[in-house]
Formats: sequence, structure tokens, C-alpha cells
Amino acid sequence: MKILVTAGPTREPIDPVRFISNRSSGKMGYAVAGAAVRLGHETVLVSGPVALTPPEKVEVISVVTAEEMLAAVQQRIGWCDALVMAAAVCDWRPRSPCLQKIKKLEMSRGLQLKATPDILRIVRSRKENRIFVGFAAETRDVTKEAQRKLAEKGLDLIVANDVSQKDAGFEVDTNRVKLISADGKCDSLPLMSKNEVAERIINWIMSKDKNCPPDAGSAKGRTSSPPADISIDGKR
Ligand code: CTP
Repeated sequence: MKILVTAGPTREPIDPVRFISNRSSGKMGYAVAGAAVRLGHETVLVSGPVALTPPEKVEVISVVTAEEMLAAVQQRIGWCDALVMAAAVCDWRPRSPCLQKIKKLEMSRGLQLKATPDILRIVRSRKENRIFVGFAAETRDVTKEAQRKLAEKGLDLIVANDVSQKDAGFEVDTNRVKLISADGKCDSLPLMSKNEVAERIINWIMSKDKNCPPDAGSAKGRTSSPPADISIDGKR
């Protein structure tokens, strides 16, 4: 299969020296890309700014902002059989980033924010028979919120993650998640390494792909080879 993975946070600039971001380390998404390659899949990783070494044999597209991540996903969506959106995309960005550093006295005017694009909602129209997996990082009502996002974003699977726990979620190497699928099944996994969680996710995707007709790889809308590399602000 051809698997497109996103990972890490996005950064939304306030001015040339400051940004809004979040605590995502990228470990879960990088683990998913690594598992995809280990299990024999062609893998492209769209990565926000992280301090990680990418897995071998994975093509990495480096992005910074939510807009750049959207552009990269749109470029590659036609190529993939499955999309795993593990990135923690910032929901808000400064309305008008300043070209010059803002002086502290000027900041008293406050920061005007506007919403970033919701990548999963935007690429939903190109889902066709691709498998879409999302993540829900929550601190309360974890299962309920994950089920809401699963339905609203038209996903096949959502990985529900209680990030208020010390041994699961941000920065650590372990995770405790629930795999909730569109057919109503909920698989509560015990505490395990992010690599093991990643393998469960890829195995789930593979189990679904077996249900597709044998010629699914050439299904309508899929392209057989990746499009030419894209360049996003020279950050590849
Ligand atoms: N996501 C996305 N585009 C965004 C925000 C999130 O594609 N702008 C994806 C994430 O990669 C994840 C899923 O949507 O797979 C859920 O993200 P999450 O941040 O948990 O949810 P939100 O849609 O931001 O909803 P809320 O703010 O209500 O938690």
C-alpha cells in the first residue's frame, strides 16, 4: 500500500521570532511512518517542526504551518491508499503576522486570531475508497469526543488518546489509546510503546485493505506514482 502520514505540531507565526504551537513531539506520527515501512509499505511523511530523525526509506516533506501541511497533503492525497493524520495541527493562527519583531509595548494591543484550515475536512471530498485515520488528543470526555470527530471528519478509524496521563500522549515513548472504528468497534489497548501502537494502526489499515477488490490499488482517483516533489518555502 501507499501510506501518507502527518506528524508533529504546526507553528503559526506571530512575527519573525515568535509563534503559536503545541506540545506535540511528533513521536507518534514518526512511529506510524516507521511501522508502515517495516510492514512493507511505500510511505510519505509530512512533518511539522520536530527534533526527530526520520525512519529510513521514508520520504519526508517538511512543513511549518497548517497551510503548508494542507498543501503537502493535497499534493499527495491522490497517490495514497491510506492517510494517517497524526499531526497536532494548530487550530488558530495570528490574523496578521508582523514582518518585524513586535516590541513588548506594542503587544498590549492583544493578538487577533483566526482559524486554520481543517485538513481532514478539506480532503474528505477526495476520500473515495482511501482509508482515513485520525487522532483525538483529549483531556476529558475522551471516547465521546473521539466518536464525534470520527463522524464529523468522515474517518474510518480514530485513535483516542487521553493526553492528561503522564505515560501517554505528549513527548513520552509510550501510549495508551483506544482504536474506535466507523463500524462502532472500540478496541482499548493497554499501555504500550508508540512503536507497538503504530503497528496496531498499520495492521488495522491492512486488514481493511484486504476487504477491497484485488484491483483496489488502481481505483478511480488514485495515481500509480507520486507527483513531482513540491517545494514549500524552500523547506524541503
Ligand atoms: N486535524 C486536521 N486539521 C486541523 C486540526 C486537526 O486535519 N486544523 C486533524 C488532526 O490531525 C487529527 C484530527 O483532525 O487527526 C483531530 O484533531 P484534534 O486537534 O483532536 O481535533 P479538532 O478538529 O482540532 O477539534 P477540537 O478543537 O474540538 O478538539
